[in-house]
Amino acid sequence: MRKAIFDTDTASDDAIALMLALDYFEVLGVTIVAGNVKFENEVSNALFTLEYLNKPDIPVYLGAQRPLLGQWRTVEEVHGKNGFGDWEYPSPLKKPENEFAADAIIRLSKEYEGELEILAVSPLTNIALAYLKDSRIINRIRKIWIMGGAFTRGNTTEIAEFNFWVDPEAAQIVLNAGFDITIVPWEIAEESATITDEEWNKIEDINTKRSEFFLKVNRVLREYSKSVGSRGSVHPDSLTVTIAYDNSVAIEKVSKYVNVELCSRSRGAMLIDWYGLNKRRPNAEVVIKADSQKFKKYLFDSLSKA
Ligand code: BDR
Ligand code: CA
Repeated sequence: MRKAIFDTDTASDDAIALMLALDYFEVLGVTIVAGNVKFENEVSNALFTLEYLNKPDIPVYLGAQRPLLGQWRTVEEVHGKNGFGDWEYPSPLKKPENEFAADAIIRLSKEYEGELEILAVSPLTNIALAYLKDSRIINRIRKIWIMGGAFTRGNTTEIAEFNFWVDPEAAQIVLNAGFDITIVPWEIAEESATITDEEWNKIEDINTKRSEFFLKVNRVLREYSKSVGSRGSVHPDSLTVTIAYDNSVAIEKVSKYVNVELCSRSRGAMLIDWYGLNKRRPNAEVVIKADSQKFKKYLFDSLSKA
C-alpha cells in the first residue's frame, strides 16, 4: 500500500477525505495545521475521526497554530462552530503525539525515503516549515497532492481560495521548493465534487456508520455552500485524495509554473503562467477537469462500507 501523511485543518470535508485516505493509503500520520476552525477543535475532530473509523493507532501530530505571516480568519460559518456541523460528538480518548508535525514530516520522509506522499488538504504551513528546516526533504518525498488555489472564482476573496489565502507565503515556499506537485483547484471541486440534494437523499438511504458521519459533519457545510450559490456541499479535499489514489479521476491536467500572490487585495491568488511568460520550468501539474461520476462512485462505495 502507498504510504502517506494526511496534512489537515480538520473540519467537515477534511474528515471525509481522511476516511477515503484510510481506505486507499497506509496513513503514517495526521498532521494538524491552522485553518478552518480553532486549532483545538481541528485536533479533536481528527482524533475523533480516527477513533470513529476504528483507526485509533494512527498518530496525530500538532503543527503550526498560525500561518507564517499575516492574519487569517477561521470560517465557522462554513463548517459549524466546531468544524463538524455543530455535532456534539463524544470527547475522543485518543491523545496527540508530542513530536511537532514538521519534525514528524522530516522523520517520516527519512524512514520512507522515496515512498512518502503528502495529502495536503489545508494551508501549507507545516510543509513549508519542514522544508525550511530540512530542504533535502524535496528529494525524499515522492509527491505532494495539494488542494488549493482558484482560477478566478475565489471562495474566500474574489480571487483567492481558502488554503492559499490563509498562508500564501507557505504556499509560495512549497511551490518553489522543487517538490513533485499536483494541484486540485477550487473550481474543479465545485464542478465535480458537489453533493446535490438528490445525492444527499441517497446518502441518507445508505444508512451505515460512515454515511451517518458524512451527514453529521457536513450539515453546516451543505447549508453554507447552498447559501452562496453552490448546488450542494462541495468536497475539494475528498476529490484531491481520490485523484491521488486514482489519477484517472483527473481527466485533464496541465503542467505550468504556478506561484501565489502575496500582496494587497489579491493576496492568496493562484498565479498560473499559462503562456510561459516567465520562462520558468513548470513546477506543478494543475488539474483542469475531473470525472465527477468516478469520484462519486468512490465516495459512495466508501460510505457504504460497514
Ligand atoms: C478548502 O478550505 C477548507 O475550508 C476546505 O477544507 C478545503 O481544504 C477549500 O477552499
Ligand atoms: Ca481542508
